[in-house]
Amino acid sequence: MSRSGGTADDPGDPQLAAKKEAGAAAADRFVRSGMRLGLGSGSTAIWAVHRIAELLDAGKLTDIAGVPTSPATEELANQLGVPLTTLDEYPRLDVDIDGADEVSPDLDLIKGGGGAHLREMVVAQASDHLVIVVDDTKLVPALGATHALPVEVLPMAERPEREFLESLGASVVKRTTPDRGVFLTAQGNPILDAAFGPIANPAALKLRLDERAGILAVGLFIGYRPTVLVASADGAQRVRTLSPAS
Ligand code: 5RP
Repeated sequence: MSRSGGTADDPGDPQLAAKKEAGAAAADRFVRSGMRLGLGSGSTAIWAVHRIAELLDAGKLTDIAGVPTSPATEELANQLGVPLTTLDEYPRLDVDIDGADEVSPDLDLIKGGGGAHLREMVVAQASDHLVIVVDDTKLVPALGATHALPVEVLPMAERPEREFLESLGASVVKRTTPDRGVFLTAQGNPILDAAFGPIANPAALKLRLDERAGILAVGLFIGYRPTVLVASADGAQRVRTLSPAS
């Protein structure tokens, strides 16, 4: 199998086409030879990994190594022949390319739809530049508008943290796998999906949740100042760029 695997266009699924376009554009525009990269997770970020593999195959990129943010991304990179490294070897990364579940007008994010937000946050904090790739269904007027907030909790603290989240007004559901088993993160912890509706002050909520000892990771990415590449699912536009206000 070539490093790039199959990346044929899917004209029948405009959202999939948009995800591919955004992911590939991030690799084309921001990855250069010699870089150390964060490799994000999810159905959009994987297309950056595919594109990096294609560019390596074509000899247009050399001396690349990436830190994967999830076991799934690690497996994909290994399948495609994208070299991997660790934060032990490279504690600073040049560029991190990742997806998001929601992007606010201030370019703050909800992440964790795949349950990888703890590692994603570690890698984002280790990176000089965060590039977020989304289709335009992810743009929201306020965080929480369309997605529950993923909250990774220590197993012994599940009940008190659930009750704490409920006391703040959230409807809380413990995440399950497609076959109704308990979903566990790569660290072996459950996730409570806390639906708040539109969150008036995400930074203040994050501070309150970060004070809780049993809460290990909250999928709120506030103040990361990402560059956001947005591909339109209706095919009307090419990928557009949202940059943080200076
Ligand atoms: C995983 C994530 C993903 O990046 C996020 O859920 C977006 O995924 P997708 O591109 O499949 O919609 O945060 O924890």
